[in-house]
Amino acid sequence: MKNINLGLFGFGSVGHGLYTALDQSTGFKAQIKRICVKNKDKSRDIDMQMFTFEKDDILFDPEIDVVVELIDDAEAAFEIVKTAMENKKHVVTSNKKMVAMHLQELLDLQRKYQVGILYEASACGSIPIIRTLEEYFDNEELVQVSGIFNGTTNYILTKTIKDGLTYAEALKEAQLKGFAESDPTNDVEGFDAKYKAVIIALHAFGIVVPPTEVLNFGISTLNEMDILYAREKGFNIKLSPIIKKTSEKKLALYVLPRFVNSENHLYKVENEFNGVIVEGKFSGEQFFQGRGAGSLPTGSAVLSDISALSYNYQYEYKKNTQHQTHAYTNDADIDIYLRFDDDEILKELNFKEIRARFYSPNHNYVLGTINLLDLRSKQQLLLEQRLFCAVLG
Ligand code: HSE
Repeated sequence: MKNINLGLFGFGSVGHGLYTALDQSTGFKAQIKRICVKNKDKSRDIDMQMFTFEKDDILFDPEIDVVVELIDDAEAAFEIVKTAMENKKHVVTSNKKMVAMHLQELLDLQRKYQVGILYEASACGSIPIIRTLEEYFDNEELVQVSGIFNGTTNYILTKTIKDGLTYAEALKEAQLKGFAESDPTNDVEGFDAKYKAVIIALHAFGIVVPPTEVLNFGISTLNEMDILYAREKGFNIKLSPIIKKTSEKKLALYVLPRFVNSENHLYKVENEFNGVIVEGKFSGEQFFQGRGAGSLPTGSAVLSDISALSYNYQYEYKKNTQHQTHAYTNDADIDIYLRFDDDEILKELNFKEIRARFYSPNHNYVLGTINLLDLRSKQQLLLEQRLFCAVLG
């Protein structure tokens, strides 16, 4: 593909990043022909002639080769992407919710219309994790992939635990810096990290996991006592998705806060940085770190995908098509810390084992083993009671 013409949907933080990266790129070149946006009244800092408010101006323009989808609304985004692919246009997107919620349909569309969709920017910003899993780990059996997949929560955790900001102050800063989703609930309750983990699970293990099956428990209930506990024990607190084999044929995935000690790679991953730990059967542990959010880092990942399309690169999904052996399960035992108010919740949660109990006037906690199925079924109760839990180790 030569002289690529791009049609952009959305001109927010990532769109600006892509625009700047394209403008300043000394290597790869492509032209943005049209940008479709929703808000007609917003003043824009580039030539207004570039903009349209009609999606068909891009989707049915025969001169546009690649549709770059960077909008917020996952369902509207899917409709755009579907129409683009039906019209034989390649797609690049950073929309993790859209990709995670429609993974199987996107696989089918690629096969049916023989066009590519690349979405490196959807998972962990500028860390090239999807292509690494696709290309380097395309054959090796993996045991576990885990890490920090959300920049906003890592920023909030760093600023509250290390720099003493309040939760509200840290979130505000993350929003001002363009890290947070338009509805930050997606970040702080772990939805965003879950969507990314679902995408990574496909490329790492070949499995399409429905996001609705996966537990995500975020950091909104973290309080000073949890931070104090972690500090006393020498832990740092991270919101950490874990995708792991529980047996030869079963795979579990969950997103929970996690206490990590100083020997863990994630301990020192701070601010908006993300980290991914890939554990292979033969290669052992690999650690990747980079900026997980922000205009230019994410824009650069989009640019890299556009460049990859220029030499006809497409995902092969080898683990999905050739090696798929896994079924998804929530039947996995995990070791957790749980801060609670009333003993009643311990019965409800059906702990398999409680190894330590601590009671004081302002802090009760237990350390124990629980099944993910039990934790998931009582998640709402934990949130209503503003309790906090974290994976140990
Ligand atoms: N809100 C997301 C994050 C943006 O903080 O990680 C990048 O996907």
